[in-house]
Amino acid sequence: MRNKRAGKIAKVKVGINGYGTIGRRVADAVLKQPDMELIGVTKVTPDYRIEEAQEKGINVFSVSSSRDFEAQGYLVKGRLQDMLAECDVVVDCSPKGKGSENMAIYSNYPNLKAILQGGEKHDITGFSFNSDCNYGQAAGRRLARVVSCNTTALCRIISTLNASFRIRKVRATIVRRSADQSESEKSVLNAWVPEAKKGFPSHHALDVKTILPDINITTLAGEAPMTLMHGHMLFIELEKGGRQADAHGVADALQKNPRIMLCSSQKGLTSTAKLKDMFSLNGRNGNLYEVCVWKDGIGVDSDGEIGLHMAIDQQADVVPENIDAIRALCGTADRQASVALTNRALSIGNSPCKPMDGRVLSATT
Ligand SMILES: NC(=O)c1ccc[n+]([C@@H]2O[C@H](COP(=O)([O-])OP(=O)(O)OC[C@H]3O[C@@H](n4cnc5c(N)ncnc54)[C@H](OP(=O)(O)O)[C@@H]3O)[C@@H](O)[C@H]2O)c1
Repeated sequence: MRNKRAGKIAKVKVGINGYGTIGRRVADAVLKQPDMELIGVTKVTPDYRIEEAQEKGINVFSVSSSRDFEAQGYLVKGRLQDMLAECDVVVDCSPKGKGSENMAIYSNYPNLKAILQGGEKHDITGFSFNSDCNYGQAAGRRLARVVSCNTTALCRIISTLNASFRIRKVRATIVRRSADQSESEKSVLNAWVPEAKKGFPSHHALDVKTILPDINITTLAGEAPMTLMHGHMLFIELEKGGRQADAHGVADALQKNPRIMLCSSQKGLTSTAKLKDMFSLNGRNGNLYEVCVWKDGIGVDSDGEIGLHMAIDQQADVVPENIDAIRALCGTADRQASVALTNRALSIGNSPCKPMDGRVLSATT
C-alpha cells in the first residue's frame, strides 16, 4: 500500500468499526493474514468484549465518549477518528443501517477505502462484492459492500454450478435463524415467521442479482426458532440444450470450490447442530466458513431439475469474503492469490469432512 520499501509492498492497515458478531470474526481473520496489520477495533458499549479484544493484543478505540469507558475501568487507545487516520481500509461491521450513516465520517479521509456489510443497501457503495463472482471488478474502487450471509452462499453455489452446467432458473426456500447465538433477547420462540411484509420474492433474490444480474432466481424466506445456522432448499433448472446433470455430477462440480463443503448425514452429520458440534473443537472456534451441502440430499428429477439442501453459518461465511474484499479494493493480490492466502490462513478446505486418506468426499463415498 502507501509505503513501499525496497520494492516490497507494506502490509495493508485495517481497522474494524464495530466489534460484534461479524466484526470480532473479521478481526480474528485479519490477525491471521500475513499481508495485513490490524490497527484496531471500535466499541460503543464499554463491556466484556473490550477485555476479549485486549487479551488478544488488539487496540480498542471508542465510537462514543471515552469517559464512559474509563468509568467502567476500561482504557481505550483513542477515538474512532484516531483509528481511521492510521488505516488504509476500514471494514464497517456496525449494525444494519449504521454503516450507511458512517459513510459521512469515512469521507473525511480521502485515501481511506471502506467495506460495508450486507445490512446496508447496494446503492450506498454502488458495488456489491463476492470473491467467486466479481473480485476483479473491485480494482480502483474506494467502496464495496460484502453481501449478506445468505446471498454470499447463494452466489457461491450458483456460480460454481453455472461453471459446469448452464443454469436456467434457481428457486430457493430459505429457513433463517431468528437470532445469532449471543442474542438471547432477540430469538423467535416456538413460531414460524414468514418474510411476507415485503411480498414476493424475498429480498435475497434481488440481492443475488446485484452480483449475478443474468441469473434467473426467485426466493422465499422466513425465520425459525433456531440460532445456529440458516438452511436453504434449492431447486435449479438447467438450460435444455446444455450439459444435463446427475447427482454425482452436481457433487463433483460443487467440490471443485474449497469454500463449499460436502457433508454426509450417513456419517452422523444430520443437522446444523451436528455441523456446529463438529467444528466446535477443531481449531475453528465453531466457525464454518464453507457453505455446507448434504451430498446424500442432492438429487435430479425426471425433468432434469436439481434439488439440494445447504446450511450456512451466518456468523462465518462472509468472513473470508471480507478478507478478499480488502485485497481486491487495495489491489494487493489477484483473485486466485487472495483466495489461496485467505483459505490457507483460515484452514478453509481442510474440513474434517474428508476421509482419513485426504480424499475429498464425493457423492459415491
Ligand atoms: N450476524 C449475522 O448473521 C450477519 C451475517 C452477515 C452479515 N451481517 C451484517 O453485518 C453487519 C454487522 O452485523 P452484526 O450481526 O455483527 O451486528 P452486531 O453483532 O449487533 O454488532 C454490531 C457492532 O457494532 C457496534 N456499533 C453499534 N453502533 C455503532 C456505530 N454507530 N458505529 C460503529 N459501531 C457501532 C456495536 O458496538 P457495541 O458492542 O460496543 O455496542 C457492535 O459491536 C450488519 O450489516 C449485518 O446485516 C450480519
